[in-house]
Amino acid sequence: MSQLIVQSGAPLHGQARVPGDKSISHRALMLGALADGVSHVAGFLPGGDCLATLGCMRALGVQISLNGLSGENSVESVDVTIHGRGLRGLRAPSAPLDCVRSGTAMRLLAGILAGQDFDSVLSGNPQLLARPMRRVVEPLRAMGADISDTDGHGPLVIHGKRLRGGEHTLAVASAQVKSALLLAGLFADEPVIVRQPGPSRDHTERMLESRIKNQESRMSEAAIVTDGLRVTLNPTVIDCLKPLDITIPGDISSAAFPLAAALLVPDSEITLTGVNTNWTRTGLLDVLAAMGAEIALMNEGEQGGEPVADLVVRSASLVATEIGGDTVVRMIDEFPILVVAATQARGTTVVRDARELRVKETDRIATVVAELRKLGAQIEPQEDGFIVKGPTRLHGALVDSHDDHRLGMALAVAGLVADGETVIEHAERIADSFPGFVGIMQGLGSNSTFLEG
Ligand code: S3P
Repeated sequence: MSQLIVQSGAPLHGQARVPGDKSISHRALMLGALADGVSHVAGFLPGGDCLATLGCMRALGVQISLNGLSGENSVESVDVTIHGRGLRGLRAPSAPLDCVRSGTAMRLLAGILAGQDFDSVLSGNPQLLARPMRRVVEPLRAMGADISDTDGHGPLVIHGKRLRGGEHTLAVASAQVKSALLLAGLFADEPVIVRQPGPSRDHTERMLESRIKNQESRMSEAAIVTDGLRVTLNPTVIDCLKPLDITIPGDISSAAFPLAAALLVPDSEITLTGVNTNWTRTGLLDVLAAMGAEIALMNEGEQGGEPVADLVVRSASLVATEIGGDTVVRMIDEFPILVVAATQARGTTVVRDARELRVKETDRIATVVAELRKLGAQIEPQEDGFIVKGPTRLHGALVDSHDDHRLGMALAVAGLVADGETVIEHAERIADSFPGFVGIMQGLGSNSTFLEG
């Protein structure tokens, strides 16, 4: 077990580039594998979750090479070459596919594998096997998929079948479920329509659209259309997917940690370059602005079919806020760090409509409350969120990531504003989404040491 030791201290200054977006990195591997030709993807995230998808794609017969991966500090320069096998070219795997800890890998791959002409099994470690899979299995079955789960969980045993289209109304606003259905739709014989209850990240739609665009479509109909919360994929006008040639923008869900650290540690000012600012992902920026933070977006542009900007942030004195409704989905991965910020804000912050946090890498309502209380936070769990009172002077303590990368990083940021020393156990998990986190934080001036166990 590795530990991360953090001490409060110097303000943060300077510029950093966070690693590539995790959601986009998964999708690039999958769509690159299904494309006709060789894809070149720069800025790929070599985090544990995406490496799990990479292993699965290789086991499905896809040749993938990773260039430039040379330790912690090279996280921004990983390039991937994917030799696409075409929509019908994946090979039957010879063993269960190991999604390790990645929910995105298991759910999106379930969609792709349901429509193959071979059988497969999706498995993973106990943490992943505890996460709900029925949300993806049931709508896929409605498309004609033959999938057995284990009491609503993985492993998923998939007998490849010819799929039908149809209309699906999702019970939860989940990009993973939406994406699984759209990817399955590539192998269906009629259109698939997905209706979501709220706006979830749209990276699959963007990437699919760009891979189909400019293709001589047999009909004038568009292959993928988003109309508010309704997405339609029409496979009957898709002959093949074009290979990718993209640079993946920085992950806003990773940027959230140095960004919050700079807000909370007095006299800090940092710039995070090339961060994805897709509206479906920027709920945290809106919430922090409502709390009194000034985060400037500079050099706005586009990268890999996504909006990007440099985020300039300086320390601010925050006030409490209330968060609920559609904003929750637009920042679903940012609650561990938002709650840390709320402990330093004046007043009572209330988070509701966030029941989904209970089925992430950990039950993030329970684990965030348990660990932040050890640092002295005044925080109450709710069935669907939190009530946090602030500002509270935190004190250093021995805390645990519970094998949850984002909880580990949120605790590291809390440690920067806590008196004395904070020791985070099971810190190795941080590399699931943000390899290089400690190096980047040190480069910005934070007092943190990683002790490899
Ligand atoms: C993801 C979607 C979200 C998010 C996860 C990545 C994706 O999950 O929490 O980290 O890549 O589609 P849900 O779709 O289950 O909310």
